[in-house]
Amino acid sequence: MCGIIGYLGHQLAKDILLDGLKKLEYRGYDSAGLCILNDGQFFIDKKVGPVVQLEQSVANQEIISTTGIAHTRWATHGAPSENNAHPHFDCHGQIAVVHNGIIENYQALKEVLISEGHQFQSETDSEVLAHLIEKFYTDNLETAVTKALALVEGSYGLVVLSIKENKLVAVRQSSPLIIGVGVGETFVASDIPAILNYTKQVIYLNDNDLAIIDSQGYHLQNLAGQVVDRQVEEVKLNVEQIEKKGFKHFMLKEIFEQPQTISNVLAGRVKDGQIKLSIDLDLSRLKRIIIAACGTSWHSALIGKYLLENIARIPVEVDYASEFRYRQPLVSDTDLFVAISQSGETADTLAALREAKRQGAQTIAIVNVVGSTVTREVDSGIYLHAGPEIGVASTKAFTAQVTALILLALYLRQLVGQPLDDGLLADLNQLPEIVATTLSLNNQLADLAAQFYHTDHFLYLGRGLNFPVALEGALKLKEISYIHAEGYPAAEIKHGPIALVDENMPVVFLATKNDLSDKIISNIQEIKARGGRIIAVVDQDYDHIAELADHLIRVPVVNVLLSPIVNAIPLQLLAYHIADYKGLDVDKPRNLAKSVTVE
Ligand code: G6P
Repeated sequence: MCGIIGYLGHQLAKDILLDGLKKLEYRGYDSAGLCILNDGQFFIDKKVGPVVQLEQSVANQEIISTTGIAHTRWATHGAPSENNAHPHFDCHGQIAVVHNGIIENYQALKEVLISEGHQFQSETDSEVLAHLIEKFYTDNLETAVTKALALVEGSYGLVVLSIKENKLVAVRQSSPLIIGVGVGETFVASDIPAILNYTKQVIYLNDNDLAIIDSQGYHLQNLAGQVVDRQVEEVKLNVEQIEKKGFKHFMLKEIFEQPQTISNVLAGRVKDGQIKLSIDLDLSRLKRIIIAACGTSWHSALIGKYLLENIARIPVEVDYASEFRYRQPLVSDTDLFVAISQSGETADTLAALREAKRQGAQTIAIVNVVGSTVTREVDSGIYLHAGPEIGVASTKAFTAQVTALILLALYLRQLVGQPLDDGLLADLNQLPEIVATTLSLNNQLADLAAQFYHTDHFLYLGRGLNFPVALEGALKLKEISYIHAEGYPAAEIKHGPIALVDENMPVVFLATKNDLSDKIISNIQEIKARGGRIIAVVDQDYDHIAELADHLIRVPVVNVLLSPIVNAIPLQLLAYHIADYKGLDVDKPRNLAKSVTVE
């Protein structure tokens, strides 16, 4: 959510900032702006829309400076406009600020600042930071920033540049920020891809860390002015992992990466009929599991409930992370709290984790991004190793999360001495190949999309483990194609949604064989009788509903506990091709951001 990059070194700041912004665009793309300290003056440009607009605007500008900051925005306070785009400035245009997060008390601060004569140009909360820093600035930027932040409530990943000093000051509070350490150059960014072309040496800032970046390098202290020591870590990512490699969109590339990413989750974790996870917790008193997550990760959590209750026989509760802490949850030290997050930075998931820890639960995180905030606060973790997910609509992270949840369920079963199902383990080991076979449905799904991309509504129905898959299929479609779609437990449609069904309504049924197949067939009949157009995802060898469905999508036969992973693939492809047919920007859907670091 919002991307930040700052640079101070010996290369042209303009090029590095624009390159970084393009890599960060998946975090927000309503508007973009930069401020470069050029020959004692600020060069400023801001544009509404994607980074390419900004790039075109500055293309012919001669800006030889090597110091600057830039930002790509996902609007929270104030509509996307040039005035609301970052950087924001103080009254005299001497202090530039890029900010990610939310200043919760900005109204109160703004009123005071206005009464003191400050003039605001934007509707954003972020602009108060520039004016507050101006208020305290005499001759030292870090001192002014520290004094200003003492008055601020909220979250911030913040980088500040003053016209009077060739230095950047960066501070983190609940919004990710990293320092990239180069030779004779230093970077600051909200996310690693922004700097990966230049350095793999990074420092993850902690909350309250303040970094001063100047021509000597960087210096770290906290907001109390004490020196802090943070390790420089080597990032394992490669530049090629964040490129499209011939695919039209990142989303399609990521869908096709799933055989590999599932294989990465499994690697070294299923051995000799045993599950190996490095979970260093005493679970002997475990009575309940609570899972909290947002968005697609919440759908994984719902599947996790089925898996954990079925395999490990432990009661599971699933919460939207944003609801968890506000419902005054009762948590105890016999609970295991599981946070699921692709990014490891989602503000609500982080807050839920902190609440569960505060009440004494042991905690595990299922996370993709190495070194993210969740991974640093949790007791134990399962990394997905799925590589960077750039498409805003999550695909490979979802199937990797579900795979990790199967491993967790098996691990907990093993922990209480129960035997593991050899058949399930064998299928699990085959899963990457099974997913690869499922991907060969791509052309069929593209054809189907061609027939349905003009539709205004879609229903997705499933039962049991595949009910959350229906939710995920509907979410994928609405996220990237803007078609209204709803997921429902198949039997529940009789209690309302069936009223929506007519001959224009496509209904996707997850109808792979399981204990509830007969009931699913009845549900299909109910829709058919109302004229709905049935698209059924079925097993390759399952012919029972051939005559009922208008379109059959035959997926490989797999253990029912693994069916959510296999069934998710055609739904991802259907959503992708529909959005592509509509000519939409699949990787950067309107109004969304990859990582939501505000509440
Ligand atoms: C955003 C993304 C979704 C994602 C959700 C949770 O809304 O657009 O794709 O599922 O955040 O993100 P997380 O990183 O916590 O899994």
